[in-house]
Amino acid sequence: MAPPIGFVSTREDAAARIAYLFSETVLSVQPNLKAAPAIGFQHALDRMVYHKVRGIVARRETLPSVYNVRYNADPFLAAIDELSRSSFVSITATSSTLQAAVTHLAKLAKFPVVIHVSMSRGLPDFSEITSLRQLGFTLIQSFSLREAQDLAIASHVLAIRTGKGVIHFFHQPDGEEIPIPVEEVNQIEKLIDRNALVYGGTERCAVARNIYWNDIAVVAEKPTMKESADEKTNDGPVDLTKVDYRTASLFQATESVFELMSVTVGRTYKAFDYHGARNADTALLIFGSCAQNFITSISLAGWGDIYSKVGVITVRVYRPWSAKKLLAVIPRSVQRLGVLEQAHHQTTKWGPILLDVISSLNNDNDLSKAAAIPVVVGYQLGHLDNKTIRQALRGIVQNIQSETPIQNLVVGGRASHDVDREYQLEQPELETAYSKMLYTVFGDRLSILNAIDRDDAGIPRTITGNPEYGLGAYLAREDEKKMLVSKLQKAIDEKLFTNQEINDLLLQWLLLNRDGSSKLSEVGAELISKLETDSSEIAKELLNERVLFLGTSSWIIGSDAWSYDLGTSGVHNIIASGKNVNVLIIDSQPYTARATKNAFRRKKDIGLYAMNYSNSYVASIAVYSSYTQAIQAFIEADKFTGPSVVIAYLPYNEETDSALTVLQETKKAVDSGYWPLYRWDPRPDESGLPNFQLDSQALKRELKDFLERENHLSQVARRVPVFGGNISGSYSSELRKQQRKMAKDAYSNLLGGLTGPPLTILFASDGGSAESLAKRLQRRAKGRGLGAVVLAMDDFPVEDLGAEENLVIITSTAGQGEFPQNGRNFWEAVKSSMDLNLTPVNYTVFGLGDSHYWPRKQDKVYYNKPAKDLNHRLEILGAKRIVELGLGDAQDPDGYQTAYPTWEAQLWKALGVDGIGALVDEPPSLTNEDFKVQSNYLRGTIVKGLNDESTGALSTSDFQVAKFHGVYLQDDRDIREQRKAHGLEPAYYFMIRVRMSGGVATPAQWLAIDEIADSMGNHTFKVTTRGTYQLHGVIKKKLKTAIKAINAALLDTIAACGDANRNVLCTGLPYNSALHKELNSYARVISDHLLPTLTAYHEIWLTDDNDEKKLVAGNAVVDFEPLYGPAYLPRKFKIAIAMPPFNEVDVFAHDVGLIAIVDDEGKLTGFNVVAGGGMGITHNNKKTYPRTGSMLGYVTKEDVVLVCEKIMLIQRDNGNRKDRKYGRLQYTIDAMGLDDFRLKVEELLGFRFEETRSFSFESNIDHFGWVKDERGLNHFTLFVENGRIMDTPGFRIKTGLREIALAIKGEAEFRLTGNQHVILSNIAEEEMPAVKRLLAEYKLDNRQFSGLRLSSSACVAFPTCAVAIAEGERYLPIFISKLEAYLEDLGLRHDSVIMRMTGCPNGCVRPWLAEVAMVGKAYGVYNLMLGGGYVGQRLNKLYRSSVNEEQALEILKPLFKRWALERAEGEHFGDFLIRVGVIKPTLDGKKFHDDVAVENEE
Ligand SMILES: Cc1cc2nc3c(=O)[nH]c(=O)nc-3n(C[C@H](O)[C@H](O)[C@H](O)COP(=O)(O)O)c2cc1C
Ligand code: SF4
Repeated sequence: MAPPIGFVSTREDAAARIAYLFSETVLSVQPNLKAAPAIGFQHALDRMVYHKVRGIVARRETLPSVYNVRYNADPFLAAIDELSRSSFVSITATSSTLQAAVTHLAKLAKFPVVIHVSMSRGLPDFSEITSLRQLGFTLIQSFSLREAQDLAIASHVLAIRTGKGVIHFFHQPDGEEIPIPVEEVNQIEKLIDRNALVYGGTERCAVARNIYWNDIAVVAEKPTMKESADEKTNDGPVDLTKVDYRTASLFQATESVFELMSVTVGRTYKAFDYHGARNADTALLIFGSCAQNFITSISLAGWGDIYSKVGVITVRVYRPWSAKKLLAVIPRSVQRLGVLEQAHHQTTKWGPILLDVISSLNNDNDLSKAAAIPVVVGYQLGHLDNKTIRQALRGIVQNIQSETPIQNLVVGGRASHDVDREYQLEQPELETAYSKMLYTVFGDRLSILNAIDRDDAGIPRTITGNPEYGLGAYLAREDEKKMLVSKLQKAIDEKLFTNQEINDLLLQWLLLNRDGSSKLSEVGAELISKLETDSSEIAKELLNERVLFLGTSSWIIGSDAWSYDLGTSGVHNIIASGKNVNVLIIDSQPYTARATKNAFRRKKDIGLYAMNYSNSYVASIAVYSSYTQAIQAFIEADKFTGPSVVIAYLPYNEETDSALTVLQETKKAVDSGYWPLYRWDPRPDESGLPNFQLDSQALKRELKDFLERENHLSQVARRVPVFGGNISGSYSSELRKQQRKMAKDAYSNLLGGLTGPPLTILFASDGGSAESLAKRLQRRAKGRGLGAVVLAMDDFPVEDLGAEENLVIITSTAGQGEFPQNGRNFWEAVKSSMDLNLTPVNYTVFGLGDSHYWPRKQDKVYYNKPAKDLNHRLEILGAKRIVELGLGDAQDPDGYQTAYPTWEAQLWKALGVDGIGALVDEPPSLTNEDFKVQSNYLRGTIVKGLNDESTGALSTSDFQVAKFHGVYLQDDRDIREQRKAHGLEPAYYFMIRVRMSGGVATPAQWLAIDEIADSMGNHTFKVTTRGTYQLHGVIKKKLKTAIKAINAALLDTIAACGDANRNVLCTGLPYNSALHKELNSYARVISDHLLPTLTAYHEIWLTDDNDEKKLVAGNAVVDFEPLYGPAYLPRKFKIAIAMPPFNEVDVFAHDVGLIAIVDDEGKLTGFNVVAGGGMGITHNNKKTYPRTGSMLGYVTKEDVVLVCEKIMLIQRDNGNRKDRKYGRLQYTIDAMGLDDFRLKVEELLGFRFEETRSFSFESNIDHFGWVKDERGLNHFTLFVENGRIMDTPGFRIKTGLREIALAIKGEAEFRLTGNQHVILSNIAEEEMPAVKRLLAEYKLDNRQFSGLRLSSSACVAFPTCAVAIAEGERYLPIFISKLEAYLEDLGLRHDSVIMRMTGCPNGCVRPWLAEVAMVGKAYGVYNLMLGGGYVGQRLNKLYRSSVNEEQALEILKPLFKRWALERAEGEHFGDFLIRVGVIKPTLDGKKFHDDVAVENEE
């Protein structure tokens, strides 16, 4: 029965509803091929979709998407795919679908994915949950309908905050539940950390690299609070609501979210609950569906009942497992502890929860001290109902209290539909663990080829078959399959089936079978279900062979005895056969006994032996170390087409060994590296992950050891450079070669450093400086004869650190004193490791930082913090420092290069190689100047690069050259980290900037750009601050087509970027047609005159299929650049034309600014010329500064083109080409002195500038709305927030403008303004009704924005700009919203304040001229600038560095208030702040860094 509105009645409904609210995408896994869609979670999801309920986290007002995926269609892979589009993905599934998805789940755990799992009905199998314990998910269990709702919320909040996966699971109650009200959306919305959402979910989340959580590790119990210089360490109770989710352990994060929940919903949840008497002598920890029955029965116990003093423990947070919290709930009086686990097939002798409990009882995690704990007895829990439970309880307690309790009693019936009322006793055998696992994973598909008795496939006792026997059985099976294939072929040929669906499936199955595809069983299952519905004889006959349809998983199982002599054991034959057979070799020799049994005749060498063949999948597993890794290995081995060898560890001396002994032996063997866990696939997987996956702590050291020990394996190592060469003949295609090369590289990397005096160089770097320094150091080290390897810190297994002889770490500094992205996991591991012994290691650290990046006194701690911390930590861990910490400072005269050479020289000395050889130092790295000159007039190797399908990018040099062609390599910043985690290159695409001098486009051109954005870009485009179009997201494959299309619209992209004269910006001037026309013609003439010839442009982009050049607008085909020469300009060059009193082009911000001068009759006579404006600076580099252009004087309009040319030529010859930071004209003029510069221009001109003509500017903003010009034509200036032309559900500006472009005719045109807005120009009177109607329909005529918003602009920044460090256009609108209500209260709603935001100091929206500017400093952190002039004449100045949103609002609000109260008539905000002394004016660019507010500095 449906619950009342506003209520939910099932746990699935509750979880599904929350999943919907908290996701962008929900994947609903359909548990059954034939299931009606509206079961389980689906019901609630359908309702949400039907009612178009809005989500809490779905972006940009989109509704969450819900997809149904069938369980046999690899649903969890679909989730991985979805992560490339959505940050917040959740999955609803039943527990039975999980195990087959282990390999995908391992990846999903690294993302904020929440999986709501409903346990199967009847007697749920909780091993479906415990088998996921090592994947890295937080596993949370809920016990009631209300809990399902609360903990579903908690799971999502946790995932969002930590960026990691959560599995929320629950079982179904027997009867119906009382409906509960749904939680208020407004209420739960408060739990979300909006920052984590707005700033891009997965991109920001720290990716856990080591997917296997130590199964028996106890989580760190003390939360890591965010470090702060001011904060003293707090020894008191920790305020969990203030936990820093980035650094806290998952368990602390979970507790903290529970705490938040408690505050919000008023219900408190704990990791473990204890129910029962405080003086209980026995406690039962129950992991199964009938815990509540136990609790109730015990509470009803009479005095005489044997179980009256029994308590029950339930587990809410299963992973991470907190030993401390478990111990805290067990009363001290408890002497016996029963652990009841509900699993259908217990594959290992001791259940996983039992092992958790045993390890937990050893506080310090030392298993050997386990003696002093209560007696722990494990039980397997079957079905119990109210009637049998009391009897069962008596049995449990009797056993537990006996002298010698029996371990592993089975309590209750096996399955609900087959309930055996008596509880049974049974004891599983130790050594069948692996074969049972195989059965669990493959079920009916499992075929153990060398099992003599197929009904009792115990290993190894019942196996006497040898490998050859197994191979023989496999070949026989292959013959059977061949016969089946011919039967099927016949059925198709002779059309024996009338059902076309069956015919299609038969065909599909045959194809998959031929290709050995892993999808065979999927299609086979579907085929079987179809055949079952067909009554024909042939269908019946085929169904007899149903096992063959499913594609068997064929295994040969043997013991370590096979390992001694690989050549004759038969294993060699299997590997060499190349057949699709899996070999499982179980090694049971205990670690501690290895010496006595000549262990170093290494049995495990079988793994390397197989790897050497490079045609086999190889894995080394240990069920009692990582169950999940073992399952994963089995699944991968099965999917691999070809031989697979899985070597498995199961150490025991005798059948009666205790859990502790086996655990101890396994732990020691794995931890010491004696038994490394790994998986090797000779091919890289689809997502490009490395094919060698190290799953345990120590392989490298181990590998080295045994390579040294074993002669024949040392030869393998030596053969590594031609690894697997003996079979290369069988792989012919290029791709295979490529894959094999990658395989080889992965292996070589692993073995790297085996030869020569070793030097391991690790780096962490965001921007690439530390990385290139590290790589250069490696080259130099090699030059000195060292066996140097270089790796990103995160790519290095920390546990191997102790095996390094010489270690060099080069790290830069990111965020606020944080490690760069690719060093964070490494640091976390080094920081928290207690048992790393680095005594044998010699080390030194070099840091790259900036002592002024965070200039406040209290922030000094952030300077080079990672390098300092590491230097200190390595010493504490026992490493020997051979060279003192080197600190490179961006503030030093040569940046970090100032300190570096001394440090490097000391390093060579310390390593004893300082005197070695006449080292040929490398040539200096290529600069942009080299790229230009060597590019053959900007050809480079772009054509080749465009055809290179192995990457979405262009080479570094082509990237520089391509800018001149108007294209700019970028990548999707939102998913950069995510792709990295998948081992993929960034999602490269290109930005294309159009050259459209004067900023005027016809409606047809507007439509062309709109169409190109849709068909080749990211469906949006931007109106830039220089009055042109910018398209984003064009992938390499479409680049040429897009540029051709732009040229077909009679636009081009020549010199839209690059070191040449760019687009000439011209005022939009809507009210004076004639003047606009004339000024615009000057813009075009100047642009054409200064346009590089760029013959290469036509060759590269406009060639047709016959490769003939297409000429555009009559450009001559010559390789000669009369104005530029082969090196073009030192930097970009920009020209703008303004018409007083409007300065919306910001004429003082360009290299050349032309201020139009008209005579008394309004006729243009000439221009005042200003030169040397420029906006790009480097944070905290005080030698860089923004500059407003300096007045050179007046010239007539006839001379203006020449003036622009001469200024450009002087810049060409005098600009700084050594350091691009100082390459712009602004520095050239300051270096030459303004007077000398002016003289030089006049010299080239042959005449002098005239006296500057008087002019006056009123503002640099746009004026919105309709105006009529002198010809009676109409112009509408339209507010386009930050120039972004993009449809959103509530505001379809792109469609609206397209409709208008289609509607307007005649002279009508689109003018793009320097403030990123659009003027619909020259609209004839008769077209007005249509245009007005469309404006109204699409809400484009809305001018009710605040003065602040109308005067604001922001650069693109995330997600497309490659160098953005903070948000720009995605965030400014949000920030302004946070000020608007306040301004309204102050009566400032309509007051214009120029506010600009950029994502970095490059200054793309001329932030330094704004009255208020926020310039990105780090993610979420900006430098706050104040005091710019309202008409664009005066630079602003730093007011506070490094403010976040809250601080910026705190600063701005009181200042606006003062302005509202104290301003003089008409006084603008910037001028006011200067008058009242809040900020000093910046009257000269060189003084930009002077007189900044005292509070900012030391
Ligand atoms: C967003 C950002 C934050 C930074 N934070 C710090 C800092 O806290 N402390 C510091 O010493 N340097 C800081 N720096 C300076 C960098 O460490 C320095 O520029 C370094 O050379 C970058 O090297 P990379 O290219 O290898 O990443 C920061 C730089 C950026 C871009
Ligand atoms: S200002 Fe910086 S972040 Fe913004 S678009 Fe320009 S380069 Fe990118």
